[in-house]
Amino acid sequence: MTTATPFDPSADDVRALGEATAAIVARHFAALRDLPVVPAVTPAETFRRFAEPVPEDPTAWPALLELFEREVVPRSFHLPSPRYFGLMNPTPLPIAVFAEALAAALNQNVGAWHHSPAATAIEAATVRWLCEIVGYPATAFGSLTNGGSLANTTGLKIALAAKVPASTTEGLFGLPHRPVCYASAEAHFSIEKSANILGLGTRALRKVPVDRDARMDVAALRRMVAADRAAGLAPFCVVGIAGVTSNGVIEPLDAIADAAAEFGLWYHVDAAYGAGGLMSERLRPRYKGIERADSVTVDPHKWWYMPYPCGAILTRDGDAGRRAFLAQAVYIPETADAIEFRDHGLAGSRPFSALKLWLAMKLVGRRAYGLHAETQVDLTQRFAAELTKTGDWEMVTPVDTAIAAVRFVGATGARAHGRTGPDTDAVQDRIVARVLAGRTHWISPTTTAGKRAIRVMVISYLTRWEHLAELIAALRAAAAEEHAP
Ligand SMILES: Cc1ncc(COP(=O)(O)O)c(C=O)c1O
Repeated sequence: MTTATPFDPSADDVRALGEATAAIVARHFAALRDLPVVPAVTPAETFRRFAEPVPEDPTAWPALLELFEREVVPRSFHLPSPRYFGLMNPTPLPIAVFAEALAAALNQNVGAWHHSPAATAIEAATVRWLCEIVGYPATAFGSLTNGGSLANTTGLKIALAAKVPASTTEGLFGLPHRPVCYASAEAHFSIEKSANILGLGTRALRKVPVDRDARMDVAALRRMVAADRAAGLAPFCVVGIAGVTSNGVIEPLDAIADAAAEFGLWYHVDAAYGAGGLMSERLRPRYKGIERADSVTVDPHKWWYMPYPCGAILTRDGDAGRRAFLAQAVYIPETADAIEFRDHGLAGSRPFSALKLWLAMKLVGRRAYGLHAETQVDLTQRFAAELTKTGDWEMVTPVDTAIAAVRFVGATGARAHGRTGPDTDAVQDRIVARVLAGRTHWISPTTTAGKRAIRVMVISYLTRWEHLAELIAALRAAAAEEHAP
């Protein structure tokens, strides 16, 4: 059944469209275990396929859904596959997938309380759950963002407003001392982008050296802050990382908190990925010190298995966000005792992203999320142990979360000859390229702790040991080609 006009949908039409769409989602989830991760596409063919004139005449929705399954799905990269060992893109939970449709149906604007009463209250409640998981007091608060990058930018803006209040009204012009901030050399690129767009300049981000495990060298941080102060600069913030992008390691959060307190710096922790591990009683001690942070980035579209977008910025002082962003809007009615989320961040019109997270957290529960995080960390440790047991592979950094950074050194090759130069670096890239050419698995190259490495992350809740065992076989086969005549 189809409507004569999309602007006059009947309840039956809406139901039929929804049921047909749900059937596609169900088929897709069922197919995920067998689909190759990497589609057989080229940019030229893909752009050509979708370069069409503006549609002048209508097409019935059954034909459009058929078009989606026939043309879009096969040209998609299957991030939700259990064989995707890639960047921090999870398999979304089905409840969160359908929550997106429910949220869109209500189309609440969560920038203004009176346009989103339940949605505002649900975002507030969900953000408070995240604050509790971080270990914050009841006075903490925050808001959802478009992702971890925007959460980091928001966090650094809040830091600047708190430590250099004049920057909010006067900008950075005329400040007697240039504000500078600190993060490890392995920090996510969004920290550098934040320094850029906040007008600090990328050179105001001081990159602190890391130790051999790729964790911030806190003694070096102390030396850098002291030297910058002596040189007339104004250090205002330090960023610690819980789950470094390249290797998943958790920095010494407590020791960084000590240094931040000693120098009076704002302490921001980028736990975009790692925060999920805080739901596990067993993993939680690794994060000691995160509760001392002034602000924390959490990205539920990573370890909470949310579809995009769903990030969050949390602040220990629950009003810090409002102080950094508040601006008058005479055309929006205010309600006493309400929360106006547009005042807590950059966005005006805001989606009801909290619905998917709220429903998923209720459906799964903190305990099961935590146990699942443990399972993934255990799988990653088993993978690293199994791959490295023959001595021809080495771990580059420890496995703190569900990411392993490994490197092929060859049974009689690089390690025996002590080689770590460009040749052995190129070997890692060639191995990754061979595995990707197989299309069945996805892994990525990175450089961490000064070494070229291969990054393997367990991020799909569908991943089982058998998938990792297959990957080990693929890595070994790809490495064996290095010795082929
Ligand atoms: C440590 C860390 N912070 C921030 C981000 C940025 O998150 P998003 O991609 O959601 O902007 C990432 C992304 O991988 C990350 O690894």
